Amino acid sequence: MLEPSSLQSYNQSIGVFDSGVGGLSVLKAIRAALPHEDLIYVADSLFAPYGDKSPEYITQRTLKLGSWLESVGVRALTLACNTATSVAVKALREQTQLPVVAIEPAIKPAVALTQTGVIGVLATQQTVQSENVIGLCELHGQGKRIILQACPGWVELVEKGELHGEKTQMLVQKFIDPLVDEGVDTLVLGCTHYPFLQFVIERIYGKALNLLDPAQAVAKELVRRLDQLNIEPKNKELPKFAEPSIAGRTRLMTTGDATQATQVMSQLWGEPIEVEHLGV
Ligand code: DGL
Repeated sequence: MLEPSSLQSYNQSIGVFDSGVGGLSVLKAIRAALPHEDLIYVADSLFAPYGDKSPEYITQRTLKLGSWLESVGVRALTLACNTATSVAVKALREQTQLPVVAIEPAIKPAVALTQTGVIGVLATQQTVQSENVIGLCELHGQGKRIILQACPGWVELVEKGELHGEKTQMLVQKFIDPLVDEGVDTLVLGCTHYPFLQFVIERIYGKALNLLDPAQAVAKELVRRLDQLNIEPKNKELPKFAEPSIAGRTRLMTTGDATQATQVMSQLWGEPIEVEHLGV
């Protein structure tokens, strides 16, 4: 098991976590926005998917990963999992003093974008039934029709790196075809795994659908929070912000099988990366 002491040089980095590999879609945006920061990513793949688990289970895992990252000395947390945000972000914010930036489905931008007035929100079962997401629909959705659609099986496809092929195409069409029949022109990708299916969605539906992924908005919010809070490093010898001339490091961990994760996460990241096992 990896001890926090073996990660001492990652003190002051940014911690990013998800139920699995999906949060890499957010990590990519963070890496682009903060090229000089050190990033630590944890994929909780042994315990994924979260979407069909109880709120208690999801909260317990979210708090566990949050406190592990805190023990390493990260200076901010990014919850790159809509499901965990929808049921556990309040508990996470109560547990930690660190700034927490949490992803949630891009319902407000979708309302601004739709021409037909019908929006589909694709997410996990827990996310679509959460008070959080129902509240976002009530807050922003006046005058529009918002269809909340759970997509069981999609997270598992991405966890296995099955982004193409007939099975993937069928499972994508199973949930999107009925939405298109209802007049949907804008789809909110309300789970961080789903942007990795964007290629297959666009192959099937062409440009007929607007696809909204809030990863860049999350990265922007993280930059804003780091800036605004002007966080003092615990270790005063470290610079307040990362050295601008040095490229940031990216350390990747999984609670699942490291060999499989190295293969799948390299595929999703777009270049070979090494993933370490984390036993928490
Ligand atoms: N990436 C997670 C999300 O954004 C997937 C949840 C799951 O593991 O089911 O919701």
